[in-house]
Amino acid sequence: MADLAGKRIVVGVCGGIAAYKAVEVIRRLVDAGAHVIPIMTKGAEHFIGRTTLSALASEPVQTSLWDEASPIPHTKLGQGADLVLIAPATARLLGAYANGLSTDLMTNVLIATRAPVIVCPAMHTEMWEHPAIQQNIATLASRGVHIVEPEAGRLAGGDSGKGRLASPDAIIAAVHQVLGPKDLAGVKVVVSAGGTREPIDSVRVIANRSSGKQGYAVAAEAASRGADVTLISTVELAVPAGVRVVNVETAAQMQAAIDAVWATSDVMVMSAAVADFRPVSCATQKIKKDGGIPQIVLEATPDILAGLGASKRPDQVLVGFAAETSDLVANAQSKLERKNLDLIVANDVSQPGVGFAHDTNAVTFLRPSQALESVSLTDKRAVARALLDIVVQIRASQ
Ligand code: PMT
Repeated sequence: MADLAGKRIVVGVCGGIAAYKAVEVIRRLVDAGAHVIPIMTKGAEHFIGRTTLSALASEPVQTSLWDEASPIPHTKLGQGADLVLIAPATARLLGAYANGLSTDLMTNVLIATRAPVIVCPAMHTEMWEHPAIQQNIATLASRGVHIVEPEAGRLAGGDSGKGRLASPDAIIAAVHQVLGPKDLAGVKVVVSAGGTREPIDSVRVIANRSSGKQGYAVAAEAASRGADVTLISTVELAVPAGVRVVNVETAAQMQAAIDAVWATSDVMVMSAAVADFRPVSCATQKIKKDGGIPQIVLEATPDILAGLGASKRPDQVLVGFAAETSDLVANAQSKLERKNLDLIVANDVSQPGVGFAHDTNAVTFLRPSQALESVSLTDKRAVARALLDIVVQIRASQ
């Protein structure tokens, strides 16, 4: 999807073991339609080759203030950029940038640009935690620089801890957050994610295979478009920037959490897989095997979405999902009408790569009195983007 078409992005690569990940980031930015101008420090050349960056980006890589025909490449690069992204950013680069020191092409570009800047630090845990580094990060953040924090995990030299460069997914999401449309600015969006777990006894539950990935993708995309997002979730994945998470486990807890925010919300996206049935009672102790096979009596859970549909105001947008294994459109159409929804996102979860637990999904959108729209197999963030494009259209027509 060429959603960064026409955007000029200067990608700066510093010298660190994570420099190889910049290759993937550049490839994905180019795939998204961006014009990528790579620059690298002298140190980065110890980790990746100039040829690799030049081949993947939109222009040959630049490393020095002096190797270009232009006598002032830093002002030219900085002025023409829609975004400057530094990944990985080393301790030296952060220190120089925070203190306005122009020591090479990259620091000159950073000081000369008026475009938004994203820095993605990567270093050993001890360095990341050093007060000088934290102070430089705070200084940059206070000036509006976007920081994509490092992750915890394996580091160079066999160590592990916080300091690993954020994943290409997180870095690309940050780019979308900064450059993407802000067509949901100030809109209060509530998203539910994950499968509910209904207790049988103190250790056993009735659950389903929902991973929460689709709901988290909707929440992340809504936040990147300026929405005020509350995510009501049964799973704990990496929290997308700017999203408030409420953790729940059962259908009853999910209903209570949604009821608490529904009246003040503008958009509700119900992507959670809520159990349709739960045990009538929950044994307080673990049920013993030697007591014979237990008879578990089930009752229906509340249909949260149908309840919201019954109390929906005309200025609210209510979106449901339909997880089907047959008759996709007919079943989804019936849920759209029965639950009084503005939009239903139907996924045929019997198909490979679709729905539960996958990173990908394929969906058909159904709206009252509107033609069907389909998105073929793609990543869940792209599905979230298409879903929210329709939400924006619905809000414009209300
Ligand atoms: O979480 P992932 O692994 O990323 O997988 C994504 C997904 C497959 C869970 C998601 O794409 C999806 O389809 N979510 C809805 C799953 C579901 O419960 O579908 P349903 O057809 O049974 O329910 C229809 C709608 O009613 C859903 O919006 C559901 O949230 C809602 N519902 C259902 C039962 C109930 N008691 N209360 C509800 O609100």
